[in-house]
Amino acid sequence: MTLTQRQPSMLAAMATDQVPGPAIHVRGLEKSYKDLRVLRGVDLEVARGSVFALLGSNGAGKTTVIRILSTLLRADAGTARVNGFDVATQGADVRGSISLTGQFAAVDEILSGRENLVLVARLRHLEDPGTIADDLLTRFSLTEAATRRVATYSGGMRRRLDIAMSLIGSPPVIFLDEPTTGLDPEARIEVWQAVRKLAEGGTTVLLTTQYLNEAEQLADRIAILHQGRIIVDGTLAELKQLLPPATVEYVEKQPSLEDVFFAVIGDKQ
Ligand SMILES: Nc1ncnc2c1ncn2[C@@H]1O[C@H](COP(=O)(O)OP(=O)(O)O)[C@@H](O)[C@H]1O
Ligand SMILES: [Mg+2]
Repeated sequence: MTLTQRQPSMLAAMATDQVPGPAIHVRGLEKSYKDLRVLRGVDLEVARGSVFALLGSNGAGKTTVIRILSTLLRADAGTARVNGFDVATQGADVRGSISLTGQFAAVDEILSGRENLVLVARLRHLEDPGTIADDLLTRFSLTEAATRRVATYSGGMRRRLDIAMSLIGSPPVIFLDEPTTGLDPEARIEVWQAVRKLAEGGTTVLLTTQYLNEAEQLADRIAILHQGRIIVDGTLAELKQLLPPATVEYVEKQPSLEDVFFAVIGDKQ
């Protein structure tokens, strides 16, 4: 199951000030669904303004982590703070600090792209929704399609619009749950560009992905979630150091993230 809805409570004013410390701090997070122990002590730290990729196979528990961090689900044990606020005791402050984009685009098909953006800006009681919409349309290269119904958009355009909508109100932390799953390669590159723009604007991005090259392309840090725990966490360069480069005759082959991924999960299987 992947989270699809945008929480109405997240549409509240998002003027929450930034609090010092890391954008996301997670210690010992545990969660079971009946007998299924999905999270068995997850530790994470995401620096402000960075892009952090939570990488894991289907069913690893990525969406469960995102749901706990966005206060949609309670953990069984452990602590999690987002923008300095505890998800268990300061839920409203957490919700005022984040935006969440699920795996399936949460845009209204009947409305145009611009109308979708204006609608969200209105719901958030922001001044001048039209200007906010036009700025975001420019930023995400959607100006030409602005007045067309979303029903006519490609998958990549929809996802870009969805990410643009999540930026309204400038939340300091954005969760993107599998932002490119189901997209074709071209649309995936468009979404990557959109995520890079978020990061350039100073937003902290926690994204989940099953795609190794997506983490490789986008993330400042990558954590691999496997069998309920983070089994490695580091920069791409640090992860690659886990495997020595293989030398074949005179050509040095650097390990790819894929090599590292299968080497580390292979150890645990
Ligand atoms: N509400 C639920 N009830 C029971 N099992 C669930 C529920 N949500 C998720 N699961 C199970 O928990 C595991 C982790 O799910 P999820 O967090 O969605 O993984 P991912 O997002 O990494 O694919 C999966 O085995 C999934 O079937
Ligand atoms: Mg998921």
